[in-house]
Amino acid sequence: MSAGRRSSPARPLTAAERRLFAAAESVAANAYAPYSGFRVGAAVTGRPGRAHLGVNVENASLPAGLCAERVALGAAVVAGERELTAVAVATADGRDAVPCGACLQALAEFGDPAVVCRLGGELRVLALHELLTSPFAALAPTDADAARQAPQRTAGGEGLSPGSRDEL
Ligand code: THU
Repeated sequence: MSAGRRSSPARPLTAAERRLFAAAESVAANAYAPYSGFRVGAAVTGRPGRAHLGVNVENASLPAGLCAERVALGAAVVAGERELTAVAVATADGRDAVPCGACLQALAEFGDPAVVCRLGGELRVLALHELLTSPFAALAPTDADAARQAPQRTAGGEGLSPGSRDEL
């Protein structure tokens, strides 16, 4: 990497990473993408065995559209996740897709997850920091701030949200 950050050599996907990619692939057909026709599914995980799902949701006001990764990230936060270990992104038609810069920044708020995606036609796993070497962090919370942002106990708040699956 040119920015002098750690760069890990390519490694094979773990079985859990393959399952996470399959979960992303399984929802991609539900994407709402009438403007681009590019249907994307995403799955993020924090606590082992739990996947939070998303698809892209486009809009007639084009900038109001949502990427699959940030929809999945929202589902993860709803379910109480705060530290992500992996994110997978898949397309309905098998084309390559790597998270966009805005999604990488959004994900970097919650750790340095492995990013599982198809690149050059191959399934690859990369660390988020290899794709986004210098996230904006000037306003990042201190440890004390972060502790205050830990999920609070609310009725039903720790249950499975509709966008999450626990069979992974
Ligand atoms: N998109 C995603 O949802 N994730 C990606 O990783 C790349 C792009 C969406 C945004 C838009 O709805 C469509 O794909 C075309 O850019």
